[in-house]
Amino acid sequence: MRSGVPTDWLLIRNLLRAHSFAILCLASISFHFACWDIAKYQLGARSDTESITTSITSSVLNYKYENGRRYHSYREGEYWGPNDEKQLNQLDLAHHLYYLTLSGELYLAPIGNNPQRILDVGTGTGIWAIDMAYRFPSATVIGNDLSPTQPNYVPPNLYFEVDDVEAEWIHRPNSFDFIHVRGLYGCVRDWPKFYDEAYRALRPGGYIEQVEMSVVLESDDNSLPEDGIFKLWGKVSVDAGETFGKTLRICDLMKGYIEDAGFEGVTQRVYKWPIGPWAKGTKMKEIGAWNRMQWEEGIEGWAIMLLTKVLGWSFTEVQAYLGRMRQAMNDPKQHAYHRLKVVYGRKPGGDQDEDFPGY
Ligand SMILES: C[S@@+](CC[C@H](N)C(=O)[O-])C[C@H]1O[C@@H](n2cnc3c(N)ncnc32)[C@H](O)[C@@H]1O
Repeated sequence: MRSGVPTDWLLIRNLLRAHSFAILCLASISFHFACWDIAKYQLGARSDTESITTSITSSVLNYKYENGRRYHSYREGEYWGPNDEKQLNQLDLAHHLYYLTLSGELYLAPIGNNPQRILDVGTGTGIWAIDMAYRFPSATVIGNDLSPTQPNYVPPNLYFEVDDVEAEWIHRPNSFDFIHVRGLYGCVRDWPKFYDEAYRALRPGGYIEQVEMSVVLESDDNSLPEDGIFKLWGKVSVDAGETFGKTLRICDLMKGYIEDAGFEGVTQRVYKWPIGPWAKGTKMKEIGAWNRMQWEEGIEGWAIMLLTKVLGWSFTEVQAYLGRMRQAMNDPKQHAYHRLKVVYGRKPGGDQDEDFPGY
């Protein structure tokens, strides 16, 4: 491995977490428990029985186990990804990849210097929301997820909620300056409804931004055999998402959906993520090395539920398939990459000069 790209997993994990938590130690001795049943105003938007921002109860923590992996229990079966330490490590690695790709930025939308309310939809480990809460200490940042797997010690302006974003959103209309969506591929059945909810929750002039990676693997030099495992991975993954009823192709669809929802100034940026350090240039080599680590850590969790429960493969078949993938990922002759897309758009109206003092 190149120098500068650590190979020891514990070191990597510590570095990633130190990245987000270092400021905590410097900035604040006070600590704050993640507030699951956050602000009263949010309650009552849906009836109690349909529930809502869910207080941590034993049922939410009553995780499900299958094929040696741990899964969420709130809205059981609705999300394909495990919520165990291994998958959370992959999410933290992905966060670092986004950070490298966006050259140290946490977002691309021109939200200015003074956003007051920020929502991170499907927050995962909460790592993006934590970084945003430090970057904008005067803003309120909310991260929601089916799984309460975020850390307890977070900046005092950050709140986590257990919520299902496929249900009607609990937030007041026009109440956010910025809504961030990342890695929700295969998570949402009805995307137009999702964007309508986001549109409603944003104030006029507010921004939505979505970041998604493609599950389809490509090469620019025909180094992936048509009948090889990398090409098969894309086909199987897309098929699994469609059969599950929640597309894994949202990275290709989101720009059109966001435009259709009524957002304006919709802008898309496309990046390439090589698998392995084969690409030219220091930055692409670094991204490729980190991305291969992300794949090594994430690949079983990406595949196991969808292939066994949705496509009906046996556990052994999946492990053999993953073995072929791992072999290909370490084959320097196969120059695979997948695309990462970032789309942002603005809800019409609002006075940008006044509301976004930085722009
Ligand atoms: C691939 S992870 C991305 C996490 C995070 N956004 C990031 O980029 O690090 C997808 C996350 O969406 C959450 N999720 C899936 N379906 C959801 C739903 N219906 N409502 C809320 N969260 C959901 C999962 O629990 C998981 O944490």
